[in-house]
Amino acid sequence: MSQPNDKPYLAYESIAEDYASEQDDPKMRDRCRTMFLDLLRGKRVLELGCGPGHDGAKLQEAGCNVTSIDLCESFLEYGRRTYPNVDFQCMDIEDPSFESNTFDGIFGMACFCHVPKENVKKALGNYLDILQTGGSLFLCHGDSEQVDGYVVDDWGGIEGNKVEIFCHHRDVLKTSLEEVGFDEIQVTHIDCPFYEEMPRLKKNGIRMYAISAKKP
Ligand SMILES: C[S@@+](CC[C@H](N)C(=O)[O-])C[C@H]1O[C@@H](n2cnc3c(N)ncnc32)[C@H](O)[C@@H]1O
Repeated sequence: MSQPNDKPYLAYESIAEDYASEQDDPKMRDRCRTMFLDLLRGKRVLELGCGPGHDGAKLQEAGCNVTSIDLCESFLEYGRRTYPNVDFQCMDIEDPSFESNTFDGIFGMACFCHVPKENVKKALGNYLDILQTGGSLFLCHGDSEQVDGYVVDDWGGIEGNKVEIFCHHRDVLKTSLEEVGFDEIQVTHIDCPFYEEMPRLKKNGIRMYAISAKKP
C-alpha cells in the first residue's frame, strides 16, 4: 500500500484550478475573517497555506497589507494572476522566514491539518517570533473526539492522491499555544454545514473550530 504524500502541498498541484473555482462555505469564511479583523491592531497580515488566496485577497480589500504563503506552485501562480495586489511567496507554513516582529496578524484557514503533530509547537513558536507584541494568530481547523487523524486516498477526487490529515484537538492546540508563550487564547465552535455534511468528515466526527491567541 502506498504511503500518504509526505509533501501534502504536492497533492494540490493538479487540482489547484478546480479548487480555486469552488466555493465551499462563504458564510463561514466571512465569519472567520470578521473575527480575525476584530482582533487585529495593525495592517501587516500573513496568510498561511493560502491556496488560491481568496481569503487573503478579501483581507487586503478590507485594508490589510497581506503576504500570502504556500508551497503549491499552481496556487501561487493562480494567486499572483488573480490578485496582483497581494504579495504571494513560496514558503513553508511550518517555518516562515521573516524578521522577528514583522506581522500584526497571522491568519490560517484549513491549512494546519497538514502540519504533523510533532511539528506543531515549532511552527507556533515561529509565529510568535514573527508577530509584533500584541499581534494575533487566528487558525480555523477541524478536530474530532473520535480520531487524531485520517488518510484520504483520493484527495481532490484523484485516486492514489493520498493525503494524511492531522486533527489537532482544540484543547491540545490551546495548551501548545500557552506553552510557546501566547496568551488571550480563545476557542470558538464554527458552524460549517458544507464540511459537516461531507461523508469523510462526518464519518470521522470532524467539527470545525477557530482558535485565536495574542503575543503578549
Ligand atoms: C485545504 S488547503 C486550504 C487553502 C486555503 N487556505 C483555503 O482555505 O481554501 C491547504 C493549503 O495548505 C498548503 N500547504 C500544505 N502544507 C504546507 C506547507 N508545509 N507549507 C505551505 N503550504 C502548505 C496547501 O498547498 C494548500 O494550499
